[in-house]
Amino acid sequence: MLLNLFIVLVIIFLVFLLSMVWPPDSPWSPWWRTSNKVARRAFKLANLTEKDIVFELGSGEGLALMIASEEFGARGVGIEIDPIRFYLSRLLVWRKGLTDKIKLKRGNFFKHDISEASVVFVYLVPKALDRLIPKFQRELKKGTRIVSYKYEMDLPLLKEDKEYGLRLYTT
Ligand SMILES: C[S@@+](CC[C@H](N)C(=O)[O-])C[C@H]1O[C@@H](n2cnc3c(N)ncnc32)[C@H](O)[C@@H]1O
Repeated sequence: MLLNLFIVLVIIFLVFLLSMVWPPDSPWSPWWRTSNKVARRAFKLANLTEKDIVFELGSGEGLALMIASEEFGARGVGIEIDPIRFYLSRLLVWRKGLTDKIKLKRGNFFKHDISEASVVFVYLVPKALDRLIPKFQRELKKGTRIVSYKYEMDLPLLKEDKEYGLRLYTT
């Protein structure tokens, strides 16, 4: 019995270690996330206000959207493919009483309409970002701000926060 428990714990630990090296846009990469400090800087860079609707593509635990909503008064929409992070984000948003301001959708963001966004926040690998550009050009309104954390995008660059690895683009 104890041996079985030990084996299960070792497996969980190994999965946890592996998840740290899987690419950040993979559904099996739970430990790549944006800190509150970075989210704050990202939304400052985008001049976020209560008039904005922020779409976070691959919203993880919804932490950045909670900053957007609590500290900037914006509404948020998160799309997350990983069921664990999706349900965790729903729980966290519910616990903070933000369900009126933040809507969370489970699924693939390539299959969701994002035309309502005034700001898009992404922390995804370059391959996924490249694939998103045609979708941005097709669906986003002219002038929508896009903030990318860590990775560059082939879009017109408006501003950059080099210290935090944030870039602000527009369509
Ligand atoms: C690097 S994590 C960032 C999580 C969160 N945005 C943050 O900054 O804390 C990337 C997230 O995107 C999700 N993801 C990757 N591809 C996706 C897709 N096609 N549709 C929806 N979510 C996706 C992953 O499951 C993961 O939670």
